[in-house]
Amino acid sequence: MSEPFRVAVLASGSGSNFQAILDRLHQSPESPVRVVTLVASRPGIRAIERATSSGIPSVVLPDPKEGREAAAGRLGEALAEARADLVVLAGYLRLIPEEIVRAYWGRMINIHPALLPAFGGDGMYGRHVHEAVIDRGARISGVTVHFVDEAYDRGPIIAQWPVPVVEGDTPGELAARVLCVEHVILPAVVDAIARGHVELARSGMCVWNKPWFGGDRFVVEPDADPGSLAGSDESGARIRRPSTE
Ligand code: GRF
Repeated sequence: MSEPFRVAVLASGSGSNFQAILDRLHQSPESPVRVVTLVASRPGIRAIERATSSGIPSVVLPDPKEGREAAAGRLGEALAEARADLVVLAGYLRLIPEEIVRAYWGRMINIHPALLPAFGGDGMYGRHVHEAVIDRGARISGVTVHFVDEAYDRGPIIAQWPVPVVEGDTPGELAARVLCVEHVILPAVVDAIARGHVELARSGMCVWNKPWFGGDRFVVEPDADPGSLAGSDESGARIRRPSTE
């Protein structure tokens, strides 16, 4: 068996995306991915419980009120100790310090619950994203996975997937539909990076050596009912064909 591909996950909350990586990759004998640490931005979060249940060590960062330098230093140390090949921000709410962005350039990714560059940036996290999508009247939202740079939600895009906004959606309902897709897309991207199928080129663009997230992968289901639009199976998400009636 070849060397494991070492992944560090950063989280600030529930950690359901972290769990998806554990279930689909870490626990799969076919996958080279091994999650070696969870870095939590605060104590007591559900993501830490998930790590403990799976025997994965976790590190809790100091509160930034005690000094940004201390928090940044501890994050840098935790990643270095983990000897991470890839750092995955899975619901991590703090901005990554510039020196760490530089050190992990092309090796640090984030998942965002909308189609960037729309509905991203400072303050666009959790429920705020879905509220903004609905308030603006957007008909399509989705999932974006991108490399991390110095700004929130701005780095080169790796993969995206559309998720319809359904008439009368509440932010919670939209969030749940988007989250189902996140749980498919994020492990798929981590796996693709681990296998060398995708990388950040010198040009600053993301390059897929093996096409995967093209439009032809969107399964169009004319009669899908809204409840099935998210699709959580391996074949990917589904998007309903616009009705001409
Ligand atoms: C997800 O919607 C992710 O896109 C965003 O934060 C949420 C985290 O959810 N960045 P979880 O902690 O993985 O359940």
